[in-house]
Amino acid sequence: MDFIDLRLQYLAIQNEIDTALKSVMTDCAFSAGKYVNAFEENFARAVGAKYCVGVNSGTSALHSALLGLGIGLGDEVIVPTNTFFATPEAVSLTGAVPVFVDCEPVYYGIDYKAIEDKISSKTKAIIPVHLYGESAELAPIVDIAKKNDLHLIEDCSQSHLTKYGEKTVGTFGIMGCFSFYPGKNLGAYGEAGAVVTNDDQLYLKLMAMRDHGSYEKYHHDFVGHNYRMEGFQGAVLNVKLPYLKKWTDMRQQNAAIYRKHLNGIGEITPPSARKSDTHVYHLYSVLAKNRNKLRQYLLDNSIATGIHYPIPCHLQKAYSHLAYQCGSFSCSETIADEQLSLPMYPELTENQIEYICATIKNFYQSN
Ligand SMILES: Cc1ncc(COP(=O)(O)O)c(C=O)c1O
Repeated sequence: MDFIDLRLQYLAIQNEIDTALKSVMTDCAFSAGKYVNAFEENFARAVGAKYCVGVNSGTSALHSALLGLGIGLGDEVIVPTNTFFATPEAVSLTGAVPVFVDCEPVYYGIDYKAIEDKISSKTKAIIPVHLYGESAELAPIVDIAKKNDLHLIEDCSQSHLTKYGEKTVGTFGIMGCFSFYPGKNLGAYGEAGAVVTNDDQLYLKLMAMRDHGSYEKYHHDFVGHNYRMEGFQGAVLNVKLPYLKKWTDMRQQNAAIYRKHLNGIGEITPPSARKSDTHVYHLYSVLAKNRNKLRQYLLDNSIATGIHYPIPCHLQKAYSHLAYQCGSFSCSETIADEQLSLPMYPELTENQIEYICATIKNFYQSN
């Protein structure tokens, strides 16, 4: 059993996708252009933001957001260490330094109680990451950002349409950054990302940022990047967006089935979701005793799983110069040792989930 099966989703909407891709070719709208514009409008509306700027990855979305705020050399940005490497990497790409914070032990988002200790005169922004599909605890983080005059940029790469209270994530700070990597809840057929914002000036700056710092063709006001979204990706995302709610419901149903069948396996801690929020289950992330052996056993029984992530960012070789020690962030380090992502995608069946859970049960009964 695959960890994720993108082919099933394609087959269900094949005609629409094929027609959309053909239109990009007949219209020669390959780079940005009308299909990207249409997606930007629709995605901004879906998230509840005024603007969306389509770019060519989640990493470039984060990088553009930071650059748009003028963050760079000499600055610090607070990030969780329990995240994909791209979050701190985007900070480093600007010349600023990522300052790591541990996660909290129930929902695995950045530990807001540990943020204020890390704020210095150099701190310019906080990037909470809404990991696995569940929101970070935003209310206190918004307060901390306001109180300390810091920008709040949300990394929503794993949380398309996640709600914190009544509002969709991505709209709590100055900008929300999304990845549309193929395996995401809303996935392109290649690389893509977006920044959403309500800020008029930032919107214009990001539109120029993705296009070599150009507000007007061949006039370059600053040094930017080629971060434009491809027309093919805009077209694919635009076809998929109306299905996202249904696919999210299916993920949530699958999560409920997992919870039912994992009940009683004491060695597994299933994911928690705050009652007030909407968890979109990008990943079905559990903590598992004897994780590595269980993972191999599942593989031996044809069940592929993932680890998100085996090395927390503060212990990555790329950040060895920052001299964090093993033991600095115990919660994130425990997650690195025990976290396991079980197969999760909308089309996963109840029978498949039952098989996965029965196999897990067998493992713990015999180990
Ligand atoms: C939390 C997080 N941030 C950033 C990214 C980077 O997105 P991309 O791969 O589209 O550059 C990802 C993608 O995996 C992610 O999961």
